[in-house]
Amino acid sequence: MSFDTVEHNRSRQQFDGVSSVWLFGYGSLIYKVDFPFLEQRPATIEGWARRFWQGSHDHRGTPEAPGRVVTLIEQPGALCKGVAYRVSPQVFQHLDVREKNGYLRFSTPMVFDDGNCAEGLVYIATEDNAAFLGPASSLDIARQIARSTGPSGPNSEYLLKLAEALRALGDHDPHVFELESHLL
Ligand code: SIN
Repeated sequence: MSFDTVEHNRSRQQFDGVSSVWLFGYGSLIYKVDFPFLEQRPATIEGWARRFWQGSHDHRGTPEAPGRVVTLIEQPGALCKGVAYRVSPQVFQHLDVREKNGYLRFSTPMVFDDGNCAEGLVYIATEDNAAFLGPASSLDIARQIARSTGPSGPNSEYLLKLAEALRALGDHDPHVFELESHLL
């Protein structure tokens, strides 16, 4: 798969006749909300673990020195907490460009904090994408984050803002918080 997933995503879901779509955010989409939304609710998806295993060549690193950002890895029973946004389908024109470095839109069931459920879309960078970096020790990941920077700013800012946002959601993500403590 090429680095740029924009065209790929455009052909994945048809929004004809649909006035709004739920989007589940679990990484920068939690704290950097640069798109309009109709409604916003904390939510959880099951079977996925958040990991700093995706390379960032366009936002928090460069093609020569990629940073690390989160993607979701399939893990039975795991719970991933995030924020669901109800958006108009046009918003995906912007989001597909923002998430173009390897992320594809997948459909997922989501559970809101009040127990209600809905189907939503989530951007996941699967391990067959060209920017996927995969696992490394938490110290090595934290070191890579500490030295990386890109057009959207320092990679450390991505990690620190995500940790802060997860804390505000009442989530305890051991992977993210361990990296945060290494970085600090
Ligand atoms: C997300 O936040 O849901 C996707 C990954 C990212 O943009 O950081």
